[in-house]
Amino acid sequence: MLSELAAPQNVLHPHSHAAADIANLFWWMMGGAFIGLALVSGLLIWAWVRRNRRGFTAADAEDPHPGEKAGWFVVVGGGVVLALATVTTVFIVSAKVMGVTEAPAATSTAVTIDVIGHQWWWEVRYPGTTAVTANEIHIPVRTRVNLVVSTDDVIHSFWVPELNRKIDTINGQTNRVLLYANRVGVYRGTCAEYCGLQHAHMAMLVLAQPLAAYRAWLRGQARPAAAPAGTLQRTGERVFLAGACSSCHTIRGTSAHGFTGPDLTHVASRQTLAAVTIPNRRADLGDWIVDSQHVKPGNEMPDIQLSGRQLQAVVAYLEHLR
Ligand code: CUA
Repeated sequence: MLSELAAPQNVLHPHSHAAADIANLFWWMMGGAFIGLALVSGLLIWAWVRRNRRGFTAADAEDPHPGEKAGWFVVVGGGVVLALATVTTVFIVSAKVMGVTEAPAATSTAVTIDVIGHQWWWEVRYPGTTAVTANEIHIPVRTRVNLVVSTDDVIHSFWVPELNRKIDTINGQTNRVLLYANRVGVYRGTCAEYCGLQHAHMAMLVLAQPLAAYRAWLRGQARPAAAPAGTLQRTGERVFLAGACSSCHTIRGTSAHGFTGPDLTHVASRQTLAAVTIPNRRADLGDWIVDSQHVKPGNEMPDIQLSGRQLQAVVAYLEHLR
């Protein structure tokens, strides 16, 4: 179900230049670490075997520290020079890789997307348009996207391992990172900074699409909500606008202008709910509305008291908001 929407997150399965460089850096560092481990283990075993084979001789009694000079060479060479050279090399290479992960300059014509962290979901805005969505970030494939992240509450960290490094959302400032996917697909990401009870359920999907499909999607998202069709949906809209829902959620084109929870103008076009916690299906949507605290304890949505008929109507209305 949810696992079918995107391949599991895998840092070593890169789909961008930046992620490939990070994966390569990892393999080189891992290789170097294993060579170092082999070297130290080899020296230890060699010293132990040599000492045991030779036994304690009369010469040892005269000179209790044989090979002291060679020992100094190993300590200074291996412990200081080699270590400094390794750390310096890793530092320089890391600094170069970090350059590759940078977002394109804000002045360039690249696509810019604003992502705002909330406990525990991601608000997604497309500057220059009225489109606002949540948790599912559409981007054009093979395009350098300037991702600008900020937070509404605590520190979060935006991380889609197959596309780039993490970027923290820090209070009172915006951070930028490059978002780039080299092929069409759905990439799963997650919050990578502990941010409270539902930190583990603060995932997101990046959907990389061909440019034309992306533009069509964006045009659709910028539109106001579809008017309800039929009695049931009209009842659903009335219940939504009159009740608690509209004080926390926005549905563009209606009187619902709340901003505590995600914008629901096109909620039916999303594949998941509650930050990729449950699939966006009728039964799950209904459960979420009446008992979201059971699904995701601690989240800001109260359980909404609705009659069976009212719930059916609200679900029908929301399902219509494509
Ligand atoms: Cu947001 Cu962890």
